[in-house]
Amino acid sequence: MSLRIDKLLANMGYGTRKEVKKLLKSGVVKVDDVIVKDPKMQVNPDEQVVTVWGEEVQYKEFIYLMMNKPPGVISATEDVVQETVIDLLEEEDKIFAPFPVGRLDKDTEGLLLLTTDGQLAHQLLSPKKHVPKTYFAVIDGEVTEADVAAFRQGIVLDDGYKTKPAELVILKSGIRSDVEVTITEGKFHQVKRMFQAVGKRVVYLKRIQMGPLSLDESLALGEYRELTDEEVALLKSFQQT
Ligand code: URA
Repeated sequence: MSLRIDKLLANMGYGTRKEVKKLLKSGVVKVDDVIVKDPKMQVNPDEQVVTVWGEEVQYKEFIYLMMNKPPGVISATEDVVQETVIDLLEEEDKIFAPFPVGRLDKDTEGLLLLTTDGQLAHQLLSPKKHVPKTYFAVIDGEVTEADVAAFRQGIVLDDGYKTKPAELVILKSGIRSDVEVTITEGKFHQVKRMFQAVGKRVVYLKRIQMGPLSLDESLALGEYRELTDEEVALLKSFQQT
């Protein structure tokens, strides 16, 4: 696969196309040890070695980050007042301009994928794909087998919409219950509204799984890491099923 050198460098965070053009002009970019100044030059990053200031550029078409989203930040790219998940990224990752794949509520924690791969994001979010998302939740109230059966049937929400069947697993039942719930849609506040419909309240919500991707529990709240090649491959093969 080949692409223009200015596009490659812009994708890799060396600045806007205009800034990259200046960089090229200054003579610090080499392809296979030869100075390149023409922004239109085609390069194949799999076969050619690109360096900037003598340092090799490891080309990646897209970046994929897994974040353990903390409460109190919103899943948006920008906001004038509120802190966003993008604000939590290091500068070296921000320059790629990743965006969150779907949304978690401000008070929801857990697995959030951030990427520059629009096609993958689209597939994961497509209602047609029914990508399962699993949440751990603490519920104010006693969750019963009747709730499990109701979730399996689909729950009618406050706006009259009937959800697709959801899997509810009771981990601990009491005046406060611990549960895991798996949904295949992403309606606004869906998990909270499903419990509200059976007269219970979600007091803590954390996403632990999205399709084949599990939250890396070694990530503290607010921490993130790049997906491994295996995880990216899993996600990509999942979208074709
Ligand atoms: N369901 C909710 O109610 N909130 C979330 O953040 C995700 C799913």
